[in-house]
Amino acid sequence: MSQSAKLNCGDVELEVPVIEGTEDEKALDISQLRRETGLITLDEGYVNTGSTRSSITFLNGEKGILRYRGYAIEDLARNCDFVEVCYLLIYGDLPSHEQLDEFRSAIHSHTMLHEDMRMFYNGFPRDAHPMAMLSSVVSAMSTFYQDALDPADPEHVEICIHRLIAKLPTIAAYSYKKSIGQPFIYPENDLTYCENFLRMMFAVPCEPYEIDPDFVTALNMLLIVHADHEQNCSTSTVRMVGSSNANLFASIAAGVCALWGPLHGGANEAVVNMLTQIMDDDGDVEKYVAMAKDKENGFRLMGFGHRVYKNFDPRATIIKAACDRLLEKMNIDDPLFHIAQQLEEVALRDEYFVSRRLYPNVDFYSGVIYRAIGIPVPMFTVLFAMGRLPGWIAHWKEMHSSENKRICRPRQVYTGENIRDFIPLSDR
Ligand code: ACO
Repeated sequence: MSQSAKLNCGDVELEVPVIEGTEDEKALDISQLRRETGLITLDEGYVNTGSTRSSITFLNGEKGILRYRGYAIEDLARNCDFVEVCYLLIYGDLPSHEQLDEFRSAIHSHTMLHEDMRMFYNGFPRDAHPMAMLSSVVSAMSTFYQDALDPADPEHVEICIHRLIAKLPTIAAYSYKKSIGQPFIYPENDLTYCENFLRMMFAVPCEPYEIDPDFVTALNMLLIVHADHEQNCSTSTVRMVGSSNANLFASIAAGVCALWGPLHGGANEAVVNMLTQIMDDDGDVEKYVAMAKDKENGFRLMGFGHRVYKNFDPRATIIKAACDRLLEKMNIDDPLFHIAQQLEEVALRDEYFVSRRLYPNVDFYSGVIYRAIGIPVPMFTVLFAMGRLPGWIAHWKEMHSSENKRICRPRQVYTGENIRDFIPLSDR
């Protein structure tokens, strides 16, 4: 029996339907509220607002659960290839051998960039941030593929998906090569997704390049754990932009921009910068914990806290264990890893962090792995974007296939001036 709640607003009593999800999450459907009562809801930062129904990713912040299409993140990270997870997120099920082969070969046929697209990189300053280059080049894809941009045409959407997944590593690697003045390395389609990316990043034409299988394993795992996280800031941006029927490239470019911010995906870069700052400051961890607690000080412990996870972030647990394994195997004694561990220990004992339920998030240890692989700090968030791409695509597709799809257009409570008499410029 479907439930409802009663809302009394002045003289009006409204029966509000309660929508129930498959994991017992309940929501009040307030879509008729304004029509019936004249009221809207106000929830700054959308802390308590469900923007959609979705069947892609389930997470429970209290219990530290994260599942893609019903599969536990721990199982996927341990057993899958990133391309397999892309398929799972976008099409809803794990692929059969045949489906996966077909999907891989569709992606392989699109890994190269149009030669004219390479010219964009000549126009960017050498020190341009790679996230700026990434969003610009992704947005520019809609100028090269104008014949297949219709969000309502399944064939157009399909080829856009293949092009995006195939080209993102190439676009990303080119932005790094540009920043260090090395020649661009063309993709090699015999390699796996992660092998190909590492080769495009680190190979040079004058020397052989050997791909380290441990780097491939670590990168594959990192891409998988970043692949989706339901209605986060960048995914909501992709859905919001896509809701106007903007094409997929335009919507994804907007998602890249949203991810860039240090309170979201940009936190992985900010974490390593913070750890380096602490190391240069004689490793004085306590001082930075005190600064983070001081409300007069704008400083926050980057990589700590999450809007949804209030016990632990299951992705952080997977990444920390992988970090341990990789550093040990490579015999690396990274001082930043020690500082990160100390910071975690101090913060987890501290009443401020405990009472606010602030724990290390996905970004806290990922940077240490990226460093071990040799990825430069400004590229960290670009790797996050490569990982998050299938999630963005899956949500964009889901939104378009929903029978409830409408342009996203929140309301507001106006708090400005009431009507004023206009004063001509000469009298002001
Ligand atoms: N360091 C110090 N204090 C913090 C931190 C932090 N990292 N995070 C939250 N707090 C405090 C706030 O000051 C606030 O304290 P108060 O109640 O005394 O005012 C309380 O904890 C609640 O914080 P909010 O900012 O209200 O939490 P919100 O859910 O809005 O923000 C966020 C979540 C943005 C992740 C926040 O914890 C933060 O800024 N963390 C650091 C940046 C970061 O690591 N971002 C990556 C998140 S994961 C991702 O997007 C991929």
